[in-house]
Amino acid sequence: MYRFKPELRIPGPVPVPNEVALQMAKPMINHRGAYFKEHYPAVLKRLAPLFGTTNQVHMITGSGTAGMEVAVSNLVSPGTPVLCLVGGFFGNRWADLCKAYGAKMHILEFPWDGGVDPEQVATYLKQHPEIELMFMVQNESSTAVLNDVESVAKARGNHSALLVVDAVSALGGTPCQMDAWGLDVVVSASQKCLMTPPGTAFVVFSPRAREYSDRCTASRYYMDLRRYEQYMEKSETPFTPNIHNVFALEEALSMIEAEGLENVFARHILMRDMMRAGARAVGLELLVKDEDASPTVTGIRFPNADSFRARIKKQYGVEFAGGQGIHANNIFRVGHMGYATPLDVLTALAVLEMDMKKYGQATQAAEQVMEA
Ligand SMILES: Cc1ncc(COP(=O)(O)O)c(C=O)c1O
Repeated sequence: MYRFKPELRIPGPVPVPNEVALQMAKPMINHRGAYFKEHYPAVLKRLAPLFGTTNQVHMITGSGTAGMEVAVSNLVSPGTPVLCLVGGFFGNRWADLCKAYGAKMHILEFPWDGGVDPEQVATYLKQHPEIELMFMVQNESSTAVLNDVESVAKARGNHSALLVVDAVSALGGTPCQMDAWGLDVVVSASQKCLMTPPGTAFVVFSPRAREYSDRCTASRYYMDLRRYEQYMEKSETPFTPNIHNVFALEEALSMIEAEGLENVFARHILMRDMMRAGARAVGLELLVKDEDASPTVTGIRFPNADSFRARIKKQYGVEFAGGQGIHANNIFRVGHMGYATPLDVLTALAVLEMDMKKYGQATQAAEQVMEA
């Protein structure tokens, strides 16, 4: 088998389109020069529709977790009562970050195979009027669950808690309507549905969150949002940014804009449905119910999943992701986000059915979804 054509089917980082990768080879420029000052704010403006916001998008050089830390370090003062909605590995990351900044912790746990229940959130908030901030994950990559962020935002009712959302593996693959849904902070990253290399995080604060952050006493420097705002006035970043990720993002956004955001979302739904139909057709159990299923990643129960993954990587060069936390070795996850097409889902299913010697069954079921 030819070994040098990687077939990455993991929930990020995702394959980068050639047009985008080529941008990474551009000559280096001065990040305080005219070209950057023109292109940097412009690309952030083009990102705003993906967030569903008219607020300023900020870019932080660092991975998605750096974006999450910008949110926490600008909001959580020592002793701030926070509620983390945890149904997987990345929900836990919010909790870990809040603990690191000395929050007074409240954690609502949800099973690691389903979504956050907005009713439980509403009940908890009624019992705890003191909670100031709530943290959740839109697309929990570890369980392949898409949480209903809009309903959780509504579940606050008259409660004043700010809602902070990790949209790292959601943004650009599934709708996010920050302003319309009343989200207060949204965080994302470059290496998932945005089809660009890792190394940049994006953060948006609502005016209410920004006002709240003025009262935050947490110690912060690189992550201090105020620095990013000050430098944004001159169309610059406070520190040397990941310049080439800006070029890459321009190209990736051109591709997304040419396809049309609604069509991008529809493609992700189609890939989700194909993947699920194919897995079911060969008798595999999906980790989550249809109503909770992520459009960008699918989790499939599989005994001894890690040896299966190693086998297909060696045999075909196809790479699936493993399970995390309680799902380690019990599931594998197939990423179908960003630069991914229905054909990529068919090839993922082809290696699955070949390994299981159920030739044609999964791909045929997926084809039927495609044709429906
Ligand atoms: C939902 C979610 N949140 C946060 C992260 C953390 O991002 P990073 O690894 O870029 O720090 C990831 C990464 O996989 C993720 O999927």
